[in-house]
Amino acid sequence: MYTAVMGYGTVGSGVVEVLTKNHDSIVKRSTQNELEVKYILDLRDFPGDPNEDKMIKDFNIILNDDDIKIVVETMGGLHPAFEFVSSCLKAGKSVVTSNKELVAAKGYELLSLAAENNVNFLFEASVGGGIPIIRPISQCLAANEIDEIAGILNGTTNFILTMMIEKNMSFEEALKLAQDNGYAEKDPTADIEGHDACRKICILASLCFGRHVYPDSVYTEGITKITLEDVAFVNAFGGVIKLLGRAKRMENGKIFAAVTPAIVLNGSQLASANDVFNAILVRGDATGDVVFYGKGAGKLPTASAVVADIIDCARNIGRKKPFGWGEATENYVVDYKTAENPLYIRAEVTDRDKAKAEIGEKIGNVKYLTFDGCSENEIAFVTENGVEAELLEKIGSVESISVKSLIRITDY
Ligand code: HSE
Repeated sequence: MYTAVMGYGTVGSGVVEVLTKNHDSIVKRSTQNELEVKYILDLRDFPGDPNEDKMIKDFNIILNDDDIKIVVETMGGLHPAFEFVSSCLKAGKSVVTSNKELVAAKGYELLSLAAENNVNFLFEASVGGGIPIIRPISQCLAANEIDEIAGILNGTTNFILTMMIEKNMSFEEALKLAQDNGYAEKDPTADIEGHDACRKICILASLCFGRHVYPDSVYTEGITKITLEDVAFVNAFGGVIKLLGRAKRMENGKIFAAVTPAIVLNGSQLASANDVFNAILVRGDATGDVVFYGKGAGKLPTASAVVADIIDCARNIGRKKPFGWGEATENYVVDYKTAENPLYIRAEVTDRDKAKAEIGEKIGNVKYLTFDGCSENEIAFVTENGVEAELLEKIGSVESISVKSLIRITDY
């Protein structure tokens, strides 16, 4: 059996490397007589590369070769990945991708195309890199109703927050270190503004709750406004700040989904996932909490997930696996402010006693936080549990404070 790899960057070259290195065991597990990469599509030249003889620049060579039964898309981006993947599925080829942007934006469409053409469209590597999560949710946890899912889904931001928490680095210093270490992209916007995590929680929420969740329906906030003061106040509270993608089943058949900085209490498994690691908590009605932890990015961990999907496709040639989700419905994702959680607030004050009196009167019971060396002009507190919109209204009515930071507190 022949495959083709589209995109010979970090992940694509890792896929070819793993397929070559573990060739014999992979072929055996694939239940095929052979599993060989016939073409590698990339517009760039790779002089001296051991796979130079397989390099092509014309996509039509792959499309028109009936020997190619499985195509790997590791190009990234929406275009031309979407057009190439659609054409392959229509031509009766299974497709494996690591491209979270593609799956988050076009997953339902591509899964439907795969079903129409009796082929498979698999994307284990699109969330959590080398961490098995898509297949465990769709197969191993299939007996459960998943109530909730929450994850540290972006390694770059987890590294930055870890440096702020453990080394007292500012956000800017930690970002520079992440870039120097090669974790963050040159333009790190998708990481630090939460868009990358948003794509991943969309994929997970679609899988867990059965309908496509589009990124533009998910409230997304990055970590750029988190300061060392927030880190210290939250430490005094007994927790840490993580960028979490969260999705939850609501009572009315709709779902809550959001990406925001969130406080997890020390002792939670998510609190101890540090550096570039990812961790994903799945709350099933039969299992309770199950946590998946590991390397969420990188050449070989991500390639491992892609190659496992190739093996799965090879085992299921001529048979569409029962895997996927349905079309989105209108207003499927509820307003994030209808969710209930306590809030952490840091605010500027001129008269601390006056502010405390007004907070007591308008918000009610709160827990004040402090740390050695905190500013006289700032106040930080944690509210009781409540519907976010209602808490925000109360907080907004306190005239003697100017809110600088708001972080949601979770119970994971
Ligand atoms: N930029 C992503 C991260 C890469 O830092 O997690 C993996 O999707």
